[in-house]
Amino acid sequence: MATTLLLGQTLSFDNDPFAAGLKAARHLSRGAVAMRDGFVLEVGPAADLRGRYGDCTVVDHGNSLLIAGFVDAHVHYSQTGIIASWGKRLIDWLQTYTFPEEMRFDDPGHAQQMAELYFDFSLANGITSAASFCTIHPESVEAYFAAAQARGMRMIGGKVMMDRNAPEGLRDDAQSGYDQSRALLEKWHGVDRLGYAVTPRFAPTSSAAQLEAAGALWTENPTCAMQTHLSEQREEIAWMKELFPDHPDYLSVYEAHGLAGPGAVMGHAIYLTQREVEAMVATGSGVAHCPTSNTFIGSGLCDVRGLAARGIPIGLATDVGGGSSFSMLRTMAAAYEVGQLRGDSLHAAELLWLATQGSANVLRIGDKVGNLAAGREADITVLDLASTPVISQRAARAVDIWDALFATIMLGDDRAVEQVYVAGRQMLPA
Ligand code: GUN
Ligand code: ZN
Repeated sequence: MATTLLLGQTLSFDNDPFAAGLKAARHLSRGAVAMRDGFVLEVGPAADLRGRYGDCTVVDHGNSLLIAGFVDAHVHYSQTGIIASWGKRLIDWLQTYTFPEEMRFDDPGHAQQMAELYFDFSLANGITSAASFCTIHPESVEAYFAAAQARGMRMIGGKVMMDRNAPEGLRDDAQSGYDQSRALLEKWHGVDRLGYAVTPRFAPTSSAAQLEAAGALWTENPTCAMQTHLSEQREEIAWMKELFPDHPDYLSVYEAHGLAGPGAVMGHAIYLTQREVEAMVATGSGVAHCPTSNTFIGSGLCDVRGLAARGIPIGLATDVGGGSSFSMLRTMAAAYEVGQLRGDSLHAAELLWLATQGSANVLRIGDKVGNLAAGREADITVLDLASTPVISQRAARAVDIWDALFATIMLGDDRAVEQVYVAGRQMLPA
């Protein structure tokens, strides 16, 4: 395959801006990305790379910004159809909207249709990798991985395990949940760019026996991810305590069943006790921050900076359909707003980090995607920093790239996503 040179502004990270501040980021106002065979060869000044890569295809993105593709650390593709459903808190929302919709995924036709829609919506928003919950139905996992594979995307997913406190038709049991998950894992994990995540929904919908089986499956397959929900809403925590009275806190339920460690992706993690924070650090477990979900379902305000300061891997997630947007820009804006309500202003560089390298690190794919850098897979999102009249007039006053990017974060949507490259391939109509 020939070399392609993308021209535009570029943003890359040399380090984590939560730890190193703004010097962690590198901006080139006239930059270029050289890519070949699905990988980034080099990022550098356009004039320099144009001189050295003579015989190549050049795609000029003008003044638009080239960044790593967004990585959505926690999403439910199966909830695409019920996004923006009104008026419930978590437990009622699950019973009223979510479970009836997830029930429909025993139909492979429905699963395929929703998977196709999900990937169209995610790509239109510049998301090139994600970790998704499927449903309890193996058909839902097959549809998801098949659609991801057809697009050549680096995607993680898993069959939801749920053997209690869910309606008839939406429960497996400890043995069948283990067996079906294992068969799916053996079929899909490590195939092309796909990865499996052991996926017990959350403590309240699994018996201790099922959590034990999930932990065993993860121990047997340690390169997989493990995804679940942790301390999202106060009512949920009270319910968990009734169901697991012998455990001191929520995280200890997962720890006791082998469900904490590197590659564990804990969705939400809002109401952690000091002990739980220490245990997150000690086990190396990660967090998926889901700000649009946390405001939409009325869950609460995650202490992103506090968790990051402890060295806990943390990334950003849409959590569709509890989350109210497929847009990672809108999700970054919500993370900013959640920070403001906590009295903490997250910088545009920190928001971008969370949405790219931060999420990739949580999912343990941070050596492959999440940064615009030599050797990474060429998953690239191109942002038009003047995509609407309102953004355009604001961007005209921007004092630097962060000011301009922040305007697009706060005001932008899929119209700001000019192009998306997956392993070097254009995914949106030119
Ligand atoms: N907790 C358990 N299941 C879910 C879910 O589907 N969405 C959210 N936001 N929280 C959950
Ligand atoms: Zn979720």
